[in-house]
Amino acid sequence: MYQDLLTAYKGLISEEKYEISLLANTAAFVFEHIDKLNWAGFYLHQDKQLILGPFQGKVACNLIQPGKGVCGTSLVTKETIVVDDVANHPNHIYCDFNSKSELVIPIIINDLVYGVFDFDAPILKRFDHELVNFLENIVKLLTNKLIEIK
Ligand code: SME
Repeated sequence: MYQDLLTAYKGLISEEKYEISLLANTAAFVFEHIDKLNWAGFYLHQDKQLILGPFQGKVACNLIQPGKGVCGTSLVTKETIVVDDVANHPNHIYCDFNSKSELVIPIIINDLVYGVFDFDAPILKRFDHELVNFLENIVKLLTNKLIEIK
């Protein structure tokens, strides 16, 4: 299934020319096709902080400082972070109390963090190895497209 979705995603973005549309449709694509998610979207690295970008889900915090929350931690470490239970993560920022697990993948262009792709799920341990691998592949395709159109 994930392989078919990667093929569909490549088709979706192949003709895209605009950054904001690319990000908006990427969030919508994942939210539509992956079940048991309550939020999927971007925080973009601007003015030395993360600002809310295109997303699907409930209204969310608009600014996250470096090192704060799971997103701000990924900004600093430049690494994917999987949180099986957000209640056990000391640094997690609640935007929606329905969120139980979270995944954050940094988007890196020329060694700099362009932003992060953040996912919340309403169940514990939603982000297994296969799902993380799939979403990291989506981020690779997205990153290549961003480099192409920026
Ligand atoms: N939980 C995130 C904040 C963003 S929302 O989940 C949409 C964090 O800890 O960085």
